[in-house]
Amino acid sequence: MEETIKFQLNGKKTEATIDPTQTLLWVLRNHFGLTGTKFGCGMGSCGACTVLIDNEPVRSCQLSVGDVAGKNVVTIEGLATNGKLHPVQKAFAEHDALQCGFCTPGMIMNATGLLLKNPLPTTQEIMDGMENNLCRCAAHLRIVEAVQTASKEMKGGK
Ligand code: FES
Ligand code: FES
Repeated sequence: MEETIKFQLNGKKTEATIDPTQTLLWVLRNHFGLTGTKFGCGMGSCGACTVLIDNEPVRSCQLSVGDVAGKNVVTIEGLATNGKLHPVQKAFAEHDALQCGFCTPGMIMNATGLLLKNPLPTTQEIMDGMENNLCRCAAHLRIVEAVQTASKEMKGGK
């Protein structure tokens, strides 16, 4: 049965009248047309579907949309402000930290959540924080470098 779920999406109050058991990933992509969030494994294993919920990186394939009622959801489409890339997006571009790009939105959202919690992570902390996001193109080294650069630019977190 459908319900109206209200939440904040990329900085705006929003609502969807929808089956609350649908996954957040499905709703973002198919109801809101936000296809930046990717369907990889659908099983919580790859991280391609990562979004921020109340600043925490969460796998949107593992969450029902009903669970985000009243929460603040940010997707890759909501990171840039006033046409200016977020420091993590900018650093990924500068370091060419991608190949096919399929894992990239999830990587960027996970890295953003990591830097919000720990603005000056060590290399090991970056590797540990990113290791459960999978990149089949093996861009991991450049991804770690990008997160280091973003950390310097964010200095203290934004
Ligand atoms: Fe959600 Fe892989 S699609 S973790
Ligand atoms: Fe292709 Fe990571 S850039 S999966």
